[in-house]
Amino acid sequence: MTMLVRSGIIVALCLIVPSLSFVLPVEKCRLDDSKCLTQSFQNGLKTFMEGMPELGTDVLDVMEMEDIEFDLSGLQFALKGGHLKGLKNSIIDQIVWDTKKKVMEMNFRSNNTLNGHYKANGRILILPISGDGELKLKLRDVQFKVLINYILKKGSDGKDRVVPKKYEFVFEVLGNAHFELTNLFNGNKELSDSMHIFLNDNWKEISTEFGRPIIDAGIKKMLKNIAIFFDKNPIDDISIQ
Ligand SMILES: *[C@@H]1O[C@H](CO)[C@@H](O)[C@H](O)[C@H]1NC(C)=O
Repeated sequence: MTMLVRSGIIVALCLIVPSLSFVLPVEKCRLDDSKCLTQSFQNGLKTFMEGMPELGTDVLDVMEMEDIEFDLSGLQFALKGGHLKGLKNSIIDQIVWDTKKKVMEMNFRSNNTLNGHYKANGRILILPISGDGELKLKLRDVQFKVLINYILKKGSDGKDRVVPKKYEFVFEVLGNAHFELTNLFNGNKELSDSMHIFLNDNWKEISTEFGRPIIDAGIKKMLKNIAIFFDKNPIDDISIQ
């Protein structure tokens, strides 16, 4: 390629994406402009969730989950090789960025499917459970509120980076949760059938009681990648002052 053609391409690229962090198809916003941020997060969501190898971020839809293990309210549960699908089609309801308190708040909803190898022992609400097989969990309209506390830290170029320090979240499954588990009770069909009826009748209570550690694993991975994004993009380069 000649120099001329090459710089022509670069100029063309700059014209197509004039006001952008170099990979996300979003408009720059003032951080106190919640409406603009909400739209920009929505516009950039799919690209972000599909992973940006240029920046070193992971593919988050489908997300390969870290192994999960918990012992909660009488249930010992483990999930290995979990895959979470659906985040890239989330609906961003509201982004609020408080630069004084250094808190970013994300409100969003999504439909998700979680697959993986589960092991369960103990009891779930009132029923004894034991199983070791494949889990498929469909969640319809899960609402999330994630609060990220951050600090600003200068990179070697002297520009401020947002560095997430801690997070909190609340969630609620508004639509429905549907459970499918293979090999419950060593494959006893009768017990397995009645457990499925129980799980799917009591989806609301069960997702409230046991959903947190699973959702936490997903949010943790998302935040790790948000941190990578902010590390690669000084805040003044991706927002309007
Ligand atoms: C989830 O799926 C339902 C049914 O297909 C749809 O009505 C709803 O808008 C979806 N929710 C989200 C957050 O995409």
